[in-house]
Amino acid sequence: MGDDRSFYIENFGCQMNVHDSEQLAVLLKHDGWIPVMEPDGAAVIILNTCSVREKAEQKVFSRLGRLRELRNGRSPVRFVIAGCMARAWGRKLLKRLPFVDLVVGPGMLSQIPTYLRKLDGGSRPIVDIRDPESVFCVPSNWIENPGIHSAWVTIMEGCDNFCSYCIVPYVRGRERFRDSEQIIEEIGALVAHGVREVTLLGQNVNSYRSRNAGFPELLRQIQAIDGLVRIRFTTSHPKDMSDELIQTVAECSKLCEYMHFPVQSGSSRILARMNRGYTREEYLGRVDRMKALIPDVALSSDFIVGFPGETEEDHRESVSLLEAVAYDNIFIFNYSVRTGTRAAEFPDTVPPDVKVRRLEDLLQRQRRIAMDRNQALIGETVDVLVDGSAKRGNGMWTGRTRQNRVVNFSGQARPGTLVPVRIESASPNCLYGSGSG
Ligand code: SAH
Ligand code: SF4
Ligand code: F3S
Repeated sequence: MGDDRSFYIENFGCQMNVHDSEQLAVLLKHDGWIPVMEPDGAAVIILNTCSVREKAEQKVFSRLGRLRELRNGRSPVRFVIAGCMARAWGRKLLKRLPFVDLVVGPGMLSQIPTYLRKLDGGSRPIVDIRDPESVFCVPSNWIENPGIHSAWVTIMEGCDNFCSYCIVPYVRGRERFRDSEQIIEEIGALVAHGVREVTLLGQNVNSYRSRNAGFPELLRQIQAIDGLVRIRFTTSHPKDMSDELIQTVAECSKLCEYMHFPVQSGSSRILARMNRGYTREEYLGRVDRMKALIPDVALSSDFIVGFPGETEEDHRESVSLLEAVAYDNIFIFNYSVRTGTRAAEFPDTVPPDVKVRRLEDLLQRQRRIAMDRNQALIGETVDVLVDGSAKRGNGMWTGRTRQNRVVNFSGQARPGTLVPVRIESASPNCLYGSGSG
């Protein structure tokens, strides 16, 4: 490969997948590699992949087809398949994609610099999909300014819940937790680099526990970090949303009034088949508790439509739950069979057209709810943490409220500052206003 040490990374998965790529980039830079923003001309192309639904995997295969054309006879390009799909497929990926040089599961990302050296030394393609015992993260003193004022911090990885539809426990491995001291040190380093908001990441953050702190205790320690303005976390599992945790969110001023609280279905019968560990009533009880203790709390959720055996009645229960909670935002997925999971053996599948109809139904209803919720804010003044210039420009700024609502606004602003914005109009996904900063 000569001295061309450029690398390019593309992500296909969840926030943790994206954050893994950020950390992998730091690791590679420390090993003398140079990040580039375009795949064309890169010496190493890394796809950090996802297996959660069939579509996510299909995307990787079709993208690889395109990327291969970039070779164009220039010096060899190394292809790396990293992440959850690498873990799910292992050596089978090399059979299907013989031009791939490296297949590395999400637990072994830290080995990529070593493997690239081995490949340079003439090694045959390498596959490493072992499950590690620790969480992938770079040392705190390597932390760089992420370029923005908002950063992700992994606090745990893996999942022990085994929801019957889900491949994540198989590809991410068992739950493991970082020490609270290490997390606090990392956030301290980020704040020293100008970060003002952190989002704590993990497949199931509220099961967090370490030698000397549970999740509420960890949150209180982070609350005490000077210079930090906002704290968020994701994902919360409804079965682990304790009173103590809700109380902590209510009491800590930096913890935002926003919770991603995935329900998956509104039917207790389907929830049991999904192995979610709570009923519809228990979920709604947790929501009521949050609404009572955390004024103005905004909630978002994930729904799966067309889970095996889901009847019209079950679907109506999802609809009525969605309307009862009045989420700010939801993500709806067509159920996708994942080989190796328990639900893959459930026989009573739902036809594709029914799935599509149910998805559209939930989507339409949610659009109306989000529109109503956003319009109710017209005339109010909200605190916006400024991200930067709005994408569709014309001098507007963009940022988020504590409730995680996107606001585009005119006026004076600087990225990373808090600006009071008066809301003047609304769409289902965005608020518009003028700032007085
Ligand atoms: N740990 C998180 C994220 C899991 S993956 C959680 O428990 O919420 C993100 C979302 O993908 C899930 O919430 C679920 O709605 C969806 N999902 C997972 N497996 C799926 C499957 N087989 N088919 C369709 N959607 C799925
Ligand atoms: Fe998957 Fe359930 Fe674990 Fe979430 S909690 S990652 S949906 S098994
Ligand atoms: Fe996908 Fe792995 Fe995240 S399967 S959703 S990238 S944990």
